[in-house]
Amino acid sequence: MKTKIAGIGKYLPKRVVTNQELTTYMDTTNEWIIERTGIEERRYAEKHKETTTTMAAAAARIAIERAGITPEDIDFIIFATLSPDYYFPGCGVLLQRELGLTKTEIGALDIRNQCTGFVYGLSVADQFIKTGMYKNILLVGSEMHSMGLDFSDEGRAVTVIFGDGAGAVVLQPTTKENQGILNTVLHSDGTHAEELAMINPGSHGGYHLGTEKFGYPDPSIPGGVFVTQKMVDDNMLTPNMTGQLVFKNAVVKFPEVIKEGLAKAGLEKEAIDLLVPHQANLRISQFVQKVMGLPDEKVVNNIQKYGNTTAASIPIALCEAFEDGRINEGDLVCLAAFGSGFTWGSVLVRW
Ligand code: UT7
Repeated sequence: MKTKIAGIGKYLPKRVVTNQELTTYMDTTNEWIIERTGIEERRYAEKHKETTTTMAAAAARIAIERAGITPEDIDFIIFATLSPDYYFPGCGVLLQRELGLTKTEIGALDIRNQCTGFVYGLSVADQFIKTGMYKNILLVGSEMHSMGLDFSDEGRAVTVIFGDGAGAVVLQPTTKENQGILNTVLHSDGTHAEELAMINPGSHGGYHLGTEKFGYPDPSIPGGVFVTQKMVDDNMLTPNMTGQLVFKNAVVKFPEVIKEGLAKAGLEKEAIDLLVPHQANLRISQFVQKVMGLPDEKVVNNIQKYGNTTAASIPIALCEAFEDGRINEGDLVCLAAFGSGFTWGSVLVRW
């Protein structure tokens, strides 16, 4: 028994935010953003109306319909995000409620692996399906970054990259020989955990290994306090990223983990019909494409339109490729991600 992607959906908020619009908030230029990231525009969710959960629900409804089932058939939910509606509970139960599935009392699992969240989620779902525990798993990646970005000059290197959106898949068992997930590969290395992170608010209380660089330990923070006035005053409630370190690690780990998956499956890189990399930065994806020696038509890039949507980027890109008719039955599709943690991983799936 293997796991197949039975249905896929995506949701992008309507509001388009161009690079030009960002120049009205911060000291940046359209040219800088395009040259360094390839991004031309991104989407922002509608405040007071849309959340990470509502976007996930919109993508999920499409995936469920395309799988030819009803929401009531879903027997497990996996939700990957770094921008949850609440600190707790996670979005899994909120999505369950949003889809009207509270009566079925199915389990809901939240994944916190940032850019690699969807790949980790697929791997977990694959194990549940292969053991026969579940038959219709709903896996979503959804992000509402626009709520947590720093629109001052200080935050420009991070803020210009990220966008909002959601993607979802329904996973089912298959016994077809030439179909389903061949393998998943997961890795992590916490050495640089704080180099791409949102440290506050948090329960570290100002005393945590790795936070020295960010002005800790801070004796003015009393232990056990989650958010302080200083964090608000000093603009410490937004993400930070050491961009070049992330970039350097990403261009090594992406090809490494793709090759690891191929080797595990006994396949060569020529066997890949479509590579769907996490949309981190167009320059990273182009580098990976070059190292892997793949032609343009075998690599999906849509970061130009949506920016980096973290856990949502792979399902959005995969869905768009599917809708554009770029995936045929039996095709070997490779998904790969790298990001905060650092965490990275890959999935090989026969469509
Ligand atoms: O999903 C994983 C998430 N993250 C990533 O994948 C990020 C990986 N890293 C990157 O994508 C790149 O490192 C960035 C796009 C974030 C930054 O590009 P870079 O080429 O590494 O630039 P840099 O950080 O070295 O900064 C170069 C210059 C600096 O100015 P000075 O010191 O040379 O005068 C920055 O202050 O660019 C400046 N800069 C900007 N200028 C205009 C940084 N952000 C901006 C901006 N607009 N938005």
